[in-house]
Amino acid sequence: MFDVGEFRSHFPILGSSSSAAKLVYVDNAATTQKPTCVISSICDFYQSYNSNINHGLYDFAIRATEAYESTRSRIAKYLNVSDREIVFTYGTTDGMNILAASYGRKFLAANDEVLLGAAEHHSSCLPWRQVSAEMGARVKIIPLRGEQWELDVDFYRSMFSKHTKLVVIQHISNVLGNENNIKLLSEIAHENGAKIIIDGAASMVHGPMDLRAIDCDFFVTSGHKSFGPSGSGFMFGKYELLRDMPPFRMGGRMVNEVSFDGIVCKSPPERFEGGTPSIASTIGFGESIKFLSEIDWVAAKQYLAKLSKHCRDKLLEVEDIKLYGSGEAAIFSFNVASIHCHDVATILAQHGIAVRAGHHCAQPLMGLLGAVGTARLSLCLYNTFEEIDFTAAILKTCKNYFA
Ligand SMILES: Cc1ncc(COP(=O)(O)O)c(C=O)c1O
Repeated sequence: MFDVGEFRSHFPILGSSSSAAKLVYVDNAATTQKPTCVISSICDFYQSYNSNINHGLYDFAIRATEAYESTRSRIAKYLNVSDREIVFTYGTTDGMNILAASYGRKFLAANDEVLLGAAEHHSSCLPWRQVSAEMGARVKIIPLRGEQWELDVDFYRSMFSKHTKLVVIQHISNVLGNENNIKLLSEIAHENGAKIIIDGAASMVHGPMDLRAIDCDFFVTSGHKSFGPSGSGFMFGKYELLRDMPPFRMGGRMVNEVSFDGIVCKSPPERFEGGTPSIASTIGFGESIKFLSEIDWVAAKQYLAKLSKHCRDKLLEVEDIKLYGSGEAAIFSFNVASIHCHDVATILAQHGIAVRAGHHCAQPLMGLLGAVGTARLSLCLYNTFEEIDFTAAILKTCKNYFA
């Protein structure tokens, strides 16, 4: 049995209050709250052994380097890949930009094709549209189908040609809550000789994954969406692909030798980690991975599935609500009657309920949905049935404000 009370006790902010009411935090797809172990690890770094990493020979610097590198090993273990395949980044957006600038500029050419999901976040579509235009490659959009706006896998299968070099697709939609079968999508890409990049921003918080079995070529994510600090993240790449990619951020730490005549870069992952990184955030990220690794995922997934079903049922009780997507990954986007989503979010905020409203950095998708934006309720393991009931009750009153 998953004990939500015990789980909540790890998150100090959930005990605090917002305006008159108790905080109901259901904006987890934007960022999750942080457990005490993560917060403490950052304080501990600055209070006890703050130093730069890699070059120092004194105790603090060695300790900081070890703590920083232990995050890499924890991530690799969480995803069943090897340490050298984990490149630290500042987050998903950073990871996508590194891939576009490094892999895209080296391996895309005129007339190549890149397949991009229709629901992609701007952090995927913009770097790939930019680099494709630069290289003379074409971006083709993988459509959605059905009432729940699922990725059209049959159409996806039919889109490949000898020109298709790359697929860029999210694992979980931050708007629709739909989960793509990334193992199947990877298999189809590989059958057609293409590589596949997964936007895993919303994935890590749902438990460990076997990226080796999924067989994607690249996977990028942000620490802050899975209990870690902002400014942390990583890009996984199969080693044989990373090895052939040029560096993106030139500077200290990524090079073995520099003379007036040339340079010898380090091997991956250091080749992509030029400059002083977010040391404290990366150490905190390591704590969040440890925290995630210690969750009983069988019980936790059962709890989140029940909570999500309850949430969907309660939302459907709200008069004139329009839900977008399956919400299977505990993310629910909706509009109530013709009320602007910002008004809905403001009314909820007045009752201490934190949701997000707007286009969620997926404007092309909003065009498909025929909405300027949506209100979005995104759940996490610390949310309760009572919080859902309270939120639904307030939503039911929204129309009264405009009567
Ligand atoms: C699905 C998805 N991809 C990418 C991103 C971008 O993440 P970040 O802003 O942490 O780089 C987000 C953030 O909301 C997201 O939800």
